[in-house]
Order: sequence, then C-alpha cells, then structure tokens
Amino acid sequence: MVLIIPVAVSLTLAAGAFAQAGLNGSPFPDVTWPDAVSPNPAAVAGAQSNQKSPPKYPSPWADGSGGWSAAYDKAVALVKKLTLEEKVNLTTGTGWQMDRCVGNTGEVPRLGIRSLCFQDAPTAVRYTDFVSVFPQGVNVAASFDKKLAYLRGQTMGEEFQAKGASCQLGPVAGPLGRSPEGGRNWEGFSPDPYLTGHMFAESIKGIQSTGMMASAKHFIANEQEHFRQLGEALDYDFNITQPGSSNFDDQTLHELYLWPFADGVRAGVANVMCSYNLVNNSQACQNSYLLNHVLKGELGFQGFVISDWQADNSGVSAILAGLDMSMPGDTLFNTGRSFFGPNLTIAVLNGTVPQWRLDDMAVRILAGWYYVDGDTKSIPVNFESFTKDTYGPLHYHVGSQWGAGLINEHVDSRGEHGALIRQWGAESTVLLKNDGILPLTGKERLTAVFGQDAAPNPNGPNGCSNKGCDIGTLAEAWGSGQGDFPYLVSPEAALQHEIVSHYGAFESITNNSALTQIQTLSRRTNAVSGVCIAFANADSGEGFINIEGNYGDRKNLTFWQAAEPMLQNVTTNCNRTVLVIHSVGPIEIQKYKDNVNVSAIVWAGLPGEQSGNSLADVLYGRVNPGAKLPFTLGASREEYGADVLYTPNQPVPQFNFQEGVFVDYRAFDHRNITPVYEFGFGLSYTEFEYADLQIEKCDAAPYEPASSVSDAAPIYGTIDNRTTTHLFPSNFTRVPLYIYPWLNSTNLSSAYGGSGYGDSTFIPDGALDGSPIATHPAGGAPGGNPQLWDVLYRVTATISNVGSLAGAEVPQLYVSHGGPFDPKRVLRGFEKLFIKPGQSTSVTFELSRRDLSNWDTVSQNWVLSDYTKTVFVGSSSRALPLTAVL
Ligand code: BGC
Repeated sequence: MVLIIPVAVSLTLAAGAFAQAGLNGSPFPDVTWPDAVSPNPAAVAGAQSNQKSPPKYPSPWADGSGGWSAAYDKAVALVKKLTLEEKVNLTTGTGWQMDRCVGNTGEVPRLGIRSLCFQDAPTAVRYTDFVSVFPQGVNVAASFDKKLAYLRGQTMGEEFQAKGASCQLGPVAGPLGRSPEGGRNWEGFSPDPYLTGHMFAESIKGIQSTGMMASAKHFIANEQEHFRQLGEALDYDFNITQPGSSNFDDQTLHELYLWPFADGVRAGVANVMCSYNLVNNSQACQNSYLLNHVLKGELGFQGFVISDWQADNSGVSAILAGLDMSMPGDTLFNTGRSFFGPNLTIAVLNGTVPQWRLDDMAVRILAGWYYVDGDTKSIPVNFESFTKDTYGPLHYHVGSQWGAGLINEHVDSRGEHGALIRQWGAESTVLLKNDGILPLTGKERLTAVFGQDAAPNPNGPNGCSNKGCDIGTLAEAWGSGQGDFPYLVSPEAALQHEIVSHYGAFESITNNSALTQIQTLSRRTNAVSGVCIAFANADSGEGFINIEGNYGDRKNLTFWQAAEPMLQNVTTNCNRTVLVIHSVGPIEIQKYKDNVNVSAIVWAGLPGEQSGNSLADVLYGRVNPGAKLPFTLGASREEYGADVLYTPNQPVPQFNFQEGVFVDYRAFDHRNITPVYEFGFGLSYTEFEYADLQIEKCDAAPYEPASSVSDAAPIYGTIDNRTTTHLFPSNFTRVPLYIYPWLNSTNLSSAYGGSGYGDSTFIPDGALDGSPIATHPAGGAPGGNPQLWDVLYRVTATISNVGSLAGAEVPQLYVSHGGPFDPKRVLRGFEKLFIKPGQSTSVTFELSRRDLSNWDTVSQNWVLSDYTKTVFVGSSSRALPLTAVL
C-alpha cells in the first residue's frame, strides 16, 4: 500500500507566542489526576501548594568520620594557617567568565592552594576540544551494568584530569525523572531510585579514583525546567516572582528523591550541588531542613555544598542553612558583587556568621579536595571555556587589556576511549521487538536507511551551541550536560560502511519530507526482500534553550523532525522494517509495536560519539543486546501519573508531587495499566530461563538508632577583628568585576554597600550556636546509619542461557513491602551476567535492612513494617517467574 502524508505543520513558535498561548488556554494543559495515583493520604497531604519546610539550625560541622579522617586532618591542619580572607577565598567563585572554567575559586598561593576548577558536564568535558562524548546517563542506566558505570566514571575522570579540572560537575540524580517530559532526565539515570543510586555511586567512585572531585547534583527535586530560574522564566514571558517549588512529604523524600543521594554520600562524593528550585517553598540552596538536617545531619555528609550557578540568593542566610560555596561567585552573572566574597568577610567580622561556620566551610572544601587526592594528582588548567582561540584574554569577560596569553593548549585527553564508548553504546542499546529479522547478516539484497536521525548535522556535529537544535542524528541532548564531539559516527555512515565494505547495495534518504522518494525506495526494498531501517528521535535539555516551544522539558512524547509521516510511509510499504529510536526518554510507540511490518524496534538512547558503530555492532550481531529499559514506555503521557507544570499556577509556581513515590512503573503497576514495554524489559538474540529461587535469612544485630553527641564546633586560628587589616592590599591591581575577599572601606556598613546593614533579626534561632549536637537517629556515618546496610536476606537464583548464542542477561529482584501504601513492588537488586550458550550461572542478591524498610516520619528513621514481604526475581518488572515470601 502506498501512503504519503504531507509534512506536519512546523511547530516553531516565538517565545512570546508560546507564553500567550499558554496564558489564554494552554495548548499543554496542566494535567490534574482525578484518581490521585498515590494511595497514601500523607503523600497527598504533604504535596499541597504553599507547603512549608521546617527550619533546622545550626549547620552541622564535619568531623572526618566514615573514612574521611585523613582528608579531614589534612584540611584542618591547613585551615589553621589561613587568614580570614584566605578562608573566604576558598568559598567563593571569582565571577562568571572571569577565569577559565565554568566555576573557579579564589586561590591561596602562599600555601600552594590552587584555584579549584569546576567544569561541566556529567557526560564529557564541556566547552573544550579533544575530549570524548560518552553515552549519556540514561544509557548507563539501560546497561544495568555497575562495572560499566564505574569504568565510564573513571574514563571521564581521566579526561577532566588531563584538562586540569578539579571537579567534574556530575553525576546527576536530580532530576530523577518524575515525569517523562522532564528536560534533563537523560543527564541522570532512571526514575527508579535504586537503579539510579547504584549508577550514581559507581560513577562517583570511578570519577574520584582519578583525583577528580565529583559533584552530586542537583539536590533536590529539580524535576522540571519550566520555572527553574526566575530570570530565565521572565525572559520567556512567564509572570512569576520566584522559581517553582517542588512540594512533597518526608516519606517521599526519603524513599524516592533522597535515596540515590544517600548512596552518593556513602560512596564518598566530595560535593553536592544544591538546585535552583524551591523545596516546600524554601530555596534548595537555603533550605536548612535539607542541607543542615538531612544532608549534613542524617546523611553525615563530610564534603561541601556548592550552589548551582546563580542558585544562591543570599549570603548569611544561605550559609547558616548549610551552603558552603557560592558559584560562580557573583550575585548574578557579571555584576561584580557577591553574596559571599567581601560580604562573607564582613559577616564574620560582625558576627552574623560565626567563625566556626566559616572554618567548617573551609575544612569541608579542602577535605573534599584531599579526599580524592586532588592536591597530588592535579595539573594546571590548560583550556579556556569561553573561546577556543589559542591566545586570548586571561579573564574572558573583561577582555585582553586585563591580561592575555596562551589560554588553550588543545591537549588531547581522549586516549583510546573511543573503543570503550563504542562498546558501551552497544551495551546500552535495548532491543524491544524482534520477529527474527535481527541480527542482520549484512548480505540483505538492499539495505535502505530512512530518516534525518540517521544523518550527520549538515552544520557539523557541534553546529549548534550547547547542542541547542535537533538537526541530524541525536547522540547527545542539549544544555550544560553535553560536550563537543571530537567526531560523530552517524548511523548512516556506519551502516553504509557495513554494506559497502563487501560491495552490497545501500541507499539512504535522510530528508524526512521527501515522501515520494521514501515511498518508492521502501516499496523497492520490500520487493527484493531487503531491509528498511528507519530512524526517529526525540530531544530535550536544559531550560536556557528553547527548541520549538520545548522549554527544556518536552511538550509531548512524540517523535521530532516530522518523522511520523516518514515512518508511516516506510512501515506501510516495507514489511521488513527495523525502527531505531534515539530518544531522551519515553516515547509513544504503541502503533509500531502493533504493526506487523515493523519487524524490530531498537532503542539506542543517547549513545555518544560512536553512535553509528555501536548500533551496527548490535544490528549485525557482533554484540548481543543485553540492555533493559530504565523507564516505562507507556501508550500516552497521561498514564505516567505525574507531569510537568507548563503554566504558572501561582506567582511562585507550585509543583505538587501528589503521586508520592508512585512514579514510572510504580504508577503503572498501581493503576493496573499495561505498558507498551515495561521497566526492565529488553530482548536478547538468545534466551534465558530462571529457576531455583533460594532464600537465606542472615543474622543481623538489632537496629540501634544512632545516639552519639558531637563535640562543640571547632575553631581554627584567631581572626584579627580590626577592619583595617582586611582592606584591599595597597598597590593591588583589581580586575573589574572580579570577586575578591577584601573590603574597600574600614566602615563595614559602607563596605557592605547595600541597605539594611546591621539588621540581624533575620538570623534563625540556634543558627549561631556551636554547642555539641545529637546525632540524627538514622545517621552516624556518611550515607546514614551503617546498620541500614546490614544484610538481612540472601536471595539466590539460577539463570540459564538456553539459546545458541552467548549473551548478557540482567536478572532483577523486586520486593513487595506489603503495606497498603506501598508500591506493588520496587526494584531492590540487579546484576548483569554474561552467560555462554548451554550454561547456567547462579546470582545472589543481598537484601539490606534499608532495602526492606520504610521511612517512618514519626521516629525519623527506617523501620521494618510487620507486613508480609515478598520477593520476585525475573527479567523485567513484569516478567517475574520466581517468587517467595520472606
Ligand atoms: C546547571 C548545572 C551546571 C551549571 C554550570 C547550571 O545552569 O544547572 O548543571 O553545572 O549551570 O554550568
């Protein structure tokens, strides 16, 4: 049958037009859920507009516990020698585009402390050349391979190290992926907190093994791009007064959004980046409940809290609430003023920030640095973020008159990482449907490739700033989470090479609107029993870029690049069609699953620079697919039970997470919705069988809530309180707009420069008190009470490869906690196994106390409920042949 559908009308809208449309009857209505997906009344009650976050003071001081003692002692020894300005200098960025990295601290040359270089991204070194672009977080999650996550972290860390960075700004566990449209979900891993927790922790360990600090971001509930930042939202003509507030209850916090961050802290992450959004109407970077009570108290975090760029909106208030470092240092980009810097010097001199708090900030920052051996492993920065010119200004924003020189040494940091990236791209490709057409032989009479998503971007692989366009094949999404490709192997090039190397027949049409030609070629391919391989994608990214009305977040779950008419023509005319998807997350594909002409569906995600080669390895059977979906593919967005808020519902937009912990598969399970493809699903070219479930109960000591009391807050060195000693040094040349720690007047009120100097009524009760504090009952070590990781049960199963090819399988263990408000089941174990044909392997899952507990908001601790707990083992969240009651 012949089918030609005209190209869809372009969806491009000017920013103003969108806002207009949004206000007068939104084209993207804010979804309200008639049947609240959480059965838990506490979750619903805790997710109301104008919810408040309780104050928690003082800010706990680090003590070097949990493997941090060597780093802590070294940091203390150094902080004892620092002057007030030197301490302040460690805490404050020098200003946007004032030094070479996206964030740079002041230095202490007298004692050999370099300026620390903070550089994006979670997937590549951003803003420089000769670096690799790795498979993105969502692909790492799809691999379900912890070793891959570690090695990728280590390999990325090596590249950051070779460029002279001190901290890689990643990995990401916030967004977790509450709603499938969330613009930055792909930077993180999966909406399942257990899967994300493992990938997050392994990435951190890998990155930090190289001497690079990792940054666990964005803390927390940074689940959508719309309204994340005031300035950005106003630029888009949204009429708001503050960033949006993510509102949810304490149980949802612990069981869902905090879970992976606890894993990250336990893995020893050097810093945690607080996010732009408000949480329960208190800014995440000034939220004493989250930073003081939860992160530094309960989770015993020993490193430092760094603000997201311009997410810090105050000095004293944020510092007392737990913020340790302000980035990029200026209040807003290039104002030349800082909430920290000289204002922190003033705050310590006038007592609104006690010395112990400043000392703790400095100790935490240096301890993070020493914890990863940054002092011995780092080299000087050899690139400049804001230009690729070899010579140029030392302080980019102010130009060459303030110093110029060699700024880009063009160091090639890649080694042979390309080979690993190719392998990881293949290992993270999910096979969703296969009627036997795959693997291809390469000897097909005619191989016809369709779709813009197969082709290179004609403007070059880095042709759009920050990847802010969707032209050509999608191997990396947009925003600060990406880096520049050293090359990009397109699917078209790789597949053509595959066929042409033995002089086969290959044709491609990568113009999605050439419907006549598409129809002709697909019919001809069908007639000779060739294979049609059709490509389609869906993109998203960070809120500072808007592509066709997708303000970071996607506005729907359909294909981009007007791929739909192309796909309809191919699938109508060619009964041997392979559909390849490059998407940031869920996409609506029910009709392709149901279409008999679609012989196979492959989700390749965002595979990075070796995209085409990784795909060819899977399609031609050199790699047997063993990846699994790290999210649910539903038939429509409504099925997910949580959505982005697209139009402000209040001047401070309120994101009410009324679904509680019921996101992704938990929502589908709870509402008995059969997904198109479920979480954890993925096929192989071989087959596996599951048998022999065995459960061993382990002896674990009874759980003891932590009960120790800290020492009083330590103070290091004496601060000279005379204001004259804190003035700018004489004969000092100040670079304009650069943030320094010194004062420009001995009169603190004039040095402060703002109005309202001297008012200290805003200081919360207890915030200045450095007396000993009691340990949080669920705390006691980084990540939480160590007994939470006591193993309560060992579950064993046998997996057999009953097919004829070697392959990888991911047995998954799910637990039903059994309570009326619990999800039907939650992931609590997975392992990636490589099994030869005819062989069996046994897999053992260890279930910890934490894995089986619920968060109890009353005792503020994890508790094992009395409900019957059941375990399920199988190959996806819905294929669970083995089950037993614990
Ligand atoms: C992003 C962060 C990023 C920072 C520095 C912010 O806008 O949210 O993820 O690390 O910019 O570029």
